[in-house]
Order: sequence, then C-alpha cells, then structure tokens
Amino acid sequence: MKSLAILTGAGISAESGLKTFRGPDGLWEGHPVEEVASIEGYLRNPTLVQTFYNQRRKQLIEEGITPNLAHVALAELQRQWEGDFMLITQNVDNLHEKAGSTDVLHIHGELLKARCENSGTVLPWTKNIEPESPCPECSQKKCLRPHIVWFGEMPFYMDEIFERLRSCTHFAAIGTSGLVYPAAGFVEVVSLDARKFEINTDNTPQSNNFDEYFTGPASEQVPLFVEKILGDQKN
Ligand code: OAD
Repeated sequence: MKSLAILTGAGISAESGLKTFRGPDGLWEGHPVEEVASIEGYLRNPTLVQTFYNQRRKQLIEEGITPNLAHVALAELQRQWEGDFMLITQNVDNLHEKAGSTDVLHIHGELLKARCENSGTVLPWTKNIEPESPCPECSQKKCLRPHIVWFGEMPFYMDEIFERLRSCTHFAAIGTSGLVYPAAGFVEVVSLDARKFEINTDNTPQSNNFDEYFTGPASEQVPLFVEKILGDQKN
C-alpha cells in the first residue's frame, strides 16, 4: 500500500501573513527565537513569553489570517489519496485544519490550546493567558501555559511518527528550513527507495537528501506537487 507523509513548516503559512521563524533579520516578530521559544526563556521571563504568545494567538484570531492555496491543496490531497496519509506540521497555527485537513500532528503544539502545568490537561484556548487566569481544570492560578513545545522540550507524537515514516513510500517537506531536529532528520528515516520531495523557495541544508524539487512559493508549488502525485497514483 502507498503511504504518504508530509512535513510542513513556517514557509507554508508565510503567504497567509504569518512570519517565518528565520527571517532575514534573524528575529521572530522582533525577538531572538531563544528568548521567546525556549524553556529557559520562559523560566527567565514568563510574562514576556506569555505576552508574546498572547499576541500570536490574538493575531491568528483577529487579523483574519486564512489558509492559502497550499493548505487547501494538501486538504484535497488527503481526501483523494488512496493509502496511508500523515500530515505532520511544525506550525502552531490552525491553517491546515481551517483548510479542511484532519488528524494533523502538531509536533510543536498549538497556539489555540493551553496546558495546565499541575494536571497536564490540555484545554482549547482563545483568550490571553494571564498569571491570574484561574485554570478551569484545577482552579489554581499561575499554572496555565501555552501548549507549545519550546527548545529544550520534547516534541509530540515522535514514536508514532518514526514508526510510520519507516514504511512510507512518499515523503514531502514543505516550507521548512531543515535546521530544527528531530523534524529536520525525518527525511533520513524514510526508506532509501521512497520518493522524497522538497518544496521551498530556497535550498536547505537537507536538500541533498531529496530527489525531486518544487522550487518557489508554496501557494504555487504545492498545488503543482499535489497534481503530480495524484496523477502518479493513478498510473
Ligand atoms: P523557518 O523559519 O526556519 O524556515 C522557513 C522555511 O520556509 C525556509 O526554508 C524558507 O526558505 C521557506 N519559505 C519561506 N517562504 C516560503 C514560501 N512562501 N513558500 C515556500 N517556502 C517558503 O521555519 P521552520 O522550518 O518551520 O520551533 O522552523 C522550524 C522550527 O523552528 C519551528 O517550528 C519553531 C522554530 O524555532 C519551535 O518554536 C520549537
């Protein structure tokens, strides 16, 4: 049976208006990534980090951020693909779901969820998280944090993903810089004879591990990739 695994990164959401992590200035929305996306950064300055994610959550909800043609094409691919299908994303936005994708594996967590550090319960969350926000689960204060995986923490779903990657026949990495592990190493886990596609505006340090390339903006290239792979499925 054919088995397709897709990994997406910030590049797929760039044309929807969400900034990538490694812009030309090396900052994410004006901050060094380590300051706002590491467990050390959070322990050093929880208010700064909570405020930063409150702003990202608000932006996602209030600025009318919508999926682009790349997200839409992947949702269509999932509907039409006749085999095992796994969509892994490093993105914490909800644009894959908004486009109609299901069972998305958010390995770095989700902006629209909060987690109670006392009980580990994960809750849907659309408001700001404030130190004084009482947790609906345990009723305590100061225990809610964004349900986001920071540097220094273990990404989600790793056992399931590595198991399924080993047997996949097709793998595609879309809009990811190939710099952050473990996701950057997924392409080396899939079997040697699997077909490996990279879709990006640029080369990445992982490019040599792929054998087919769609070079250009995701909103143009992902629909072309989907057309090709669905065409190949029929042959
Ligand atoms: P990056 O910001 O590191 O890389 C974005 C990639 O998208 C780059 O390779 C760009 O060339 C490419 N790109 C930009 N615009 C594009 C477009 N319109 N179409 C196609 N490609 C485009 O983002 P990620 O690889 O997702 O982790 O970053 C990985 C992780 O690093 C993130 O999940 C986050 C970050 O620190 C955590 O916060 C734990």
